[in-house]
Amino acid sequence: MACVTRESLAAEFARHYPGPASPKFWRAPGRINLIGEHTDYNLGFVMPMAIGFSTYVAAAPSHDGKLHAYSTNLNDAREWTPGSLQPAGDWGDYVAGVAKVLVDYQPMNLLIHSEVPTGAGLSSSAALELSVALALLDGRMMEPLDLVRLCRRAENEFVGVPCGIMDQFISGLAKENTALRIDCRGLEYEVVTLPRDVVVVAVNSMVKHELGNSAYRTRVAECAAAARMLGVENLREATTDGGDKRARHVVSENARVEEFRAACAAGDLHKMGELFVASHRSLQHDYEVSCEELDFLVDTAITIDGVYGARMTGGGFGGCTVNLVAPDQVDAFETSITQVYRNRYQIEARVYRSTPAAGAGPF
Ligand code: GLA
Repeated sequence: MACVTRESLAAEFARHYPGPASPKFWRAPGRINLIGEHTDYNLGFVMPMAIGFSTYVAAAPSHDGKLHAYSTNLNDAREWTPGSLQPAGDWGDYVAGVAKVLVDYQPMNLLIHSEVPTGAGLSSSAALELSVALALLDGRMMEPLDLVRLCRRAENEFVGVPCGIMDQFISGLAKENTALRIDCRGLEYEVVTLPRDVVVVAVNSMVKHELGNSAYRTRVAECAAAARMLGVENLREATTDGGDKRARHVVSENARVEEFRAACAAGDLHKMGELFVASHRSLQHDYEVSCEELDFLVDTAITIDGVYGARMTGGGFGGCTVNLVAPDQVDAFETSITQVYRNRYQIEARVYRSTPAAGAGPF
């Protein structure tokens, strides 16, 4: 499915679930985090935006009492009964996990198609969770924040990833043309409009180092230990880092989100770019979640004309960088960064120009 439409989804749905049912359609986007990395589970500030890549679900009630899911990307099917919603260690866990936390089990046929690249740090899992949750709710209303919390719970408790709330939040509540600055403690948010004379460009390193998952858990634990050492409940409350590198990243990154918000409001692209690079250096040296390829992409990007700043985005250990680029330099940037990366790693980086998209909803 090159360009996803309701018709293309309906045709695939009919192929996999023959019968008269006419499905409903749902969509949830992936995201780029502009700044505020590894701060969400420390109850700090983040500033993500949704992107134009989404996960789509076509859904209709099933008549055999089972929940069925079929992924067009993987050409793989799963099915569950109410008693069999158990983690299996694969993509189906996101579907089963959401079904489980939504409590009232729905026998449904789901056809899932995703444009969000996996392993790219663009939150394909949150997009899957939110789109499946909407499909299972089948039009029943739920407070958006409750939906976001449930999807995070599915990931924390069922899939077993101790993630923060950023990805589900932005996939669920994003607004077109704006980023959101989210306070992960009280879950208040405000919209942030980016200056018009800049383009957000993600560059996918196309690598994903295995270390990522275990390092994420380790960082969550290290932050809890640092908070204990500092005598605060969580690192959001910390005013000093006590010489701890992890705390230093979190405390300084929270401050950078606030500075970035001010720089956006002032249209100060150079300051925004500086904060991007400072965020990357902090993730590279203090938080130690970057990798050689991401560092190379950032170091290269900031030497290219028209680039205000660059940093890794998402959990790290591979995936994407996010770059702030002058509109008339984006083509040249794309050509140079892919060429230099190819020469160094023999890997074809992918480049995504992104404007902030709307959050999850009917399609
Ligand atoms: C992953 C997690 C998020 C967040 C980021 C890092 O994307 O799912 O909750 O912690 O890493 O900022």
